[in-house]
Amino acid sequence: MGSKYFVVFLTLCALASSLVLASDPSPLQDFCVAIAEPKDAVFVNGKFCKNPKLATADDFFLKGLNIPGDTSNPQGSNVTQANVAQIPGLNTLGISLVRIDYAPYGLNPPHTHPRATEVLQVVYGSLYVGFVTSNPENRLISKVLYEGDVFVFPVGLIHFQFNVGKTPAVAFAGLSSQNPGVITIANAVFGSNPPISDDVLAKAFQVDKKVVDLLQAQFSK
Ligand SMILES: *[C@@H]1O[C@H](CO)[C@@H](O)[C@H](O)[C@H]1NC(C)=O
Repeated sequence: MGSKYFVVFLTLCALASSLVLASDPSPLQDFCVAIAEPKDAVFVNGKFCKNPKLATADDFFLKGLNIPGDTSNPQGSNVTQANVAQIPGLNTLGISLVRIDYAPYGLNPPHTHPRATEVLQVVYGSLYVGFVTSNPENRLISKVLYEGDVFVFPVGLIHFQFNVGKTPAVAFAGLSSQNPGVITIANAVFGSNPPISDDVLAKAFQVDKKVVDLLQAQFSK
């Protein structure tokens, strides 16, 4: 291979590897406070950055995580988010936070975060938590957690938390992305818009179409 072609080859390799980056990039500066208005801004990682000289403490601040979310919904849980959408200073920093409230016997239903590992701490109450490993094992790794206990949900794996106590429970969790994303399994599979054909779901779940239609009715928007 001639040296000119080798340089082209290396450039293509570098380009290909940058296109398949699967996690938030390392920040290339101290911070990059996200702004909506691109006036005098630089485009980085999907958000425009504010001129760093104009950054203020409020760009890195959020209040209200002492206030419980309303858990009077069918699942009996509520996730209050503190990611780049609420704290623009998190842009490019690869981290975020949630507060999760659980009614007695409330459930944070099976879901995955496509872009983040999660480390959860129980502040109050007791939670039965677990995640399932990928194919072909699909092993459930689960545990009952109490006040002060910490548990890790690895990136991308389906996981849940269920309040097994008679009292409300509260947990906080750190996530390794400024924008972890959430895919709630039941909502994605049975509540997509437009719906996935019941022929597909009946075959996938090996049940009668009537069962699929019932589930779709529960989750359709
Ligand atoms: C979560 O709680 C907030 C604050 O009380 C409320 O506005 C929101 O509708 C709740 N979400 C769900 C899914 O119940």
